[in-house]
Amino acid sequence: MTKVPDLPERDVVVIGGCGHVGLPLALAFADRGARVAIYDVSETSVAMVNAGRMPFAEPGAEEVLRRVLAAGRLEASVDPAIVGSAEHVVVVIGTPVDEHLNPDQTAITKALGGCAGYLHDGQLLILRSTVFPGVTALVEKMVAGLGLQIEVAFCPERIAEGKAMTELFELPQIVSSRTPTGTDRAWRLFGRLTSKLVVMSPEEAELAKLFTNVWRYIKFATANQLYMMANERGLDFERIRQGLAEDYPRAADMPAAGFAAGPCLFKDTMQLAAFNHNNFPLGHAAMAVNEGLPLYVVHRLEQRFDLASMTVGILGMAFKAGSDDTRSSLSYKLKRILAFKADAVLCTDPYVTTDPALLPLGEVLAASDLLVIAAPHPDYKGLVTDKPVADIWDVLGQGVRI
Ligand SMILES: NC(=O)c1ccc[n+]([C@@H]2O[C@H](COP(=O)([O-])OP(=O)(O)OC[C@H]3O[C@@H](n4cnc5c(N)ncnc54)[C@H](O)[C@@H]3O)[C@@H](O)[C@H]2O)c1
Repeated sequence: MTKVPDLPERDVVVIGGCGHVGLPLALAFADRGARVAIYDVSETSVAMVNAGRMPFAEPGAEEVLRRVLAAGRLEASVDPAIVGSAEHVVVVIGTPVDEHLNPDQTAITKALGGCAGYLHDGQLLILRSTVFPGVTALVEKMVAGLGLQIEVAFCPERIAEGKAMTELFELPQIVSSRTPTGTDRAWRLFGRLTSKLVVMSPEEAELAKLFTNVWRYIKFATANQLYMMANERGLDFERIRQGLAEDYPRAADMPAAGFAAGPCLFKDTMQLAAFNHNNFPLGHAAMAVNEGLPLYVVHRLEQRFDLASMTVGILGMAFKAGSDDTRSSLSYKLKRILAFKADAVLCTDPYVTTDPALLPLGEVLAASDLLVIAAPHPDYKGLVTDKPVADIWDVLGQGVRI
């Protein structure tokens, strides 16, 4: 067992702290005066963070990064020894499902295994990744098996990418731990960021996080199915949606139609389905509808146009508006289907920097016979073109029928 340091050198270490949610969290703690370390296996991201550059776009984050580096309150490292330097250890690595939609229930324990030798008595281990239900108990068992006196908490992240630097300070934080002291310590740590804390048991909190994402995913699927229903009848779903919600608060939360994609909603719906022995008809129906929307778009377009002789331009490859994140973006699914059906497919995105196949917007507009807006970036508002545009979000304000 490692010796307990009398006074930890740092307040927090974030494992996976160069990621989309780990880094904003590390920055938020450091900006509120905490001494923060990051442990991450990505050498590139660690080097960028230590040089004051964000590995991905997150509004408002880079100025905070520079500020906390200058103040000496943040250090990133690929050396797992840094995990031993802090009182609170926050784990926020990715928890994807595999190509057969199976969750990896051991992702967190495997990651912790890589730095287990640096954990020591007295630390508070906080799981922040979205986990398969039961993982908190699994980690408690792992820690006990190592003979360590470490309390475990599960405090899920609920920010939306692109809003992290405000939502971390505004959203209520769900706090859960098996013991009152674990809850109290996690409460005090997150109390540095927000005064709104919600206490649950670990099992409740694990489900609360998954339910939050699944609820959103199913709402998007509902809107998407209603969109297709209206569209089949030559009707504009967005006009119907706005009309029915006008001065009618009970329907105000009906979302617009659009690609429901990204690294969280789909995979968390599949995690919950797997947890419930694949008995989740609503979740699976939502998946079929949301993942089917690009197929429907192409199906409709090929009824109207001779795609085989056309060049189709896809505008927006990120998974959502204003983002540079292409993880699980349905724009790429759309691209694959169109590559099979059309003569050529050209893609553009003003934010994405990781895809060398992307072309400037002007080139795509000039060379395409037909355009599809696949991510509703604000940059496309007011776009002028004489080419037909499929625009399910109504970015151009000319209707959503395709
Ligand atoms: N992206 C979101 O909007 C969002 C919102 C809420 C919750 N979440 C959840 O947060 C978790 C992280 O998601 P993300 O989008 O930040 O993922 P990410 O892939 O952007 O970040 C994960 C980071 O962990 C690092 N990493 C991977 N394995 C590691 C290991 N063994 N040791 C140390 N570092 C390791 C990676 O290099 C990466 O920097 C997931 O469980 C996700 O479901 C994500």
